[in-house]
Amino acid sequence: MITVEVALPGRSYPIHIGSGLLAQAELILPHLRGRQVMVVSNPQVAGLYLPALRQTLEAQGLRVAECLLPDGEAYKDLEHLACIFDRLLAEGMDRRCTVLALGGGVVGDMAGFAAATYQRGVNFIQVPTSLLAQVDSSVGGKTGVNHPRGKNMIGAFKQPALVLIDIDVLATLPKRELAAGMAEIIKYALIRDREFLDWLDLHAPAMMQGEPELLAEAVARSCRHKAEVVLRDEFEEGERALLNLGHTFGHAIETHCGYGNWLHGEAVAAGMVMAARMSQQAGDLSQADVDRILALLQACQLPSQPPAMHADDFQSLMAHDKKVLDGRQRLVLLRALGHAEVVEVEPERLRQALQSMLHA
Ligand code: NAD
Ligand code: GLY
Repeated sequence: MITVEVALPGRSYPIHIGSGLLAQAELILPHLRGRQVMVVSNPQVAGLYLPALRQTLEAQGLRVAECLLPDGEAYKDLEHLACIFDRLLAEGMDRRCTVLALGGGVVGDMAGFAAATYQRGVNFIQVPTSLLAQVDSSVGGKTGVNHPRGKNMIGAFKQPALVLIDIDVLATLPKRELAAGMAEIIKYALIRDREFLDWLDLHAPAMMQGEPELLAEAVARSCRHKAEVVLRDEFEEGERALLNLGHTFGHAIETHCGYGNWLHGEAVAAGMVMAARMSQQAGDLSQADVDRILALLQACQLPSQPPAMHADDFQSLMAHDKKVLDGRQRLVLLRALGHAEVVEVEPERLRQALQSMLHA
């Protein structure tokens, strides 16, 4: 087992990564407060992993209740968030209960937001089961739901008390979802770890075949990156924004196409290519650099082209991004492979770039 610590002062928490961890109650028990656990999941993941987790917890005398949300990004909204509060109240969960998210990023973001607000905040544990959730969304405390006008527009920061990553669960993850997780792994390499990019060029095909040791290594390396950045900038006042490479473009794609039609990781992949092309236009990346990114995404069966959209529509969706401050569009662009910066971009430059990249 590998442990990465998110060493936030007074709220430090471990990310345990390994095989067979769902059965190890001793990893979970120290991070509970009371004896009540509300597992938030969806039918797909619960069918596969809730019985084993329930057994692990109940064998320790804990009272376990469950809240199953419908599966998918389309349900990551206020209406379905309310289902979690309904279940917590119906089960009489008190302020010492623990909300435990068992699932991908959708479940994690929603359960975390519920934990942040139920009775003004209760204990929270993340057990991420998709690759994307293991390398990104379960770490760092961003939680929330979508609004029809924008992704993740309503939410809170809520750090978990534990992130428990069982690599074995990736064996049942559909290939398309595995690829979506690869997009966020590639993101860390592009923004801050060129050597990791070399490693991924070499190992991405085997990771896509589900090779568990390589997946564990990539998850650990990604979690270390995330932990380092979150430690330095928990509330995204600066450096943390770099973790959003490709996301401003990606969120516009997700919102335009309808939540769930493009997977988050797929939209981020196409968005990273758009950011890379803007970096190339600025003279910071070469054609060879862009081609290398395209080849890696292709090896992971990820899209590299945005959908057909009008540049004006795309630009107005981008204006809803949380990085927009005082009406000024800020984008994460690459200065080089392995080095990113937040850059303020003039509307006209963005319009021209979008026109060159989009085909409506
Ligand atoms: P997801 O939660 O929809 O999960 C993907 C699919 O895989 C679902 O159908 C799920 O049921 C299924 N699944 C999950 N684990 C499985 C397993 N082990 N076996 C079989 N099926 C499994 O999507 P996701 O890609 O995990 O997360 C995307 C969400 O995460 C988006 O809403 C995005 O905004 C959010 N996100 C949040 C952060 C953050 O910092 N909070 C960061 C990145 C992404
Ligand atoms: N996924 C970006 C962040 O957590 O900041």
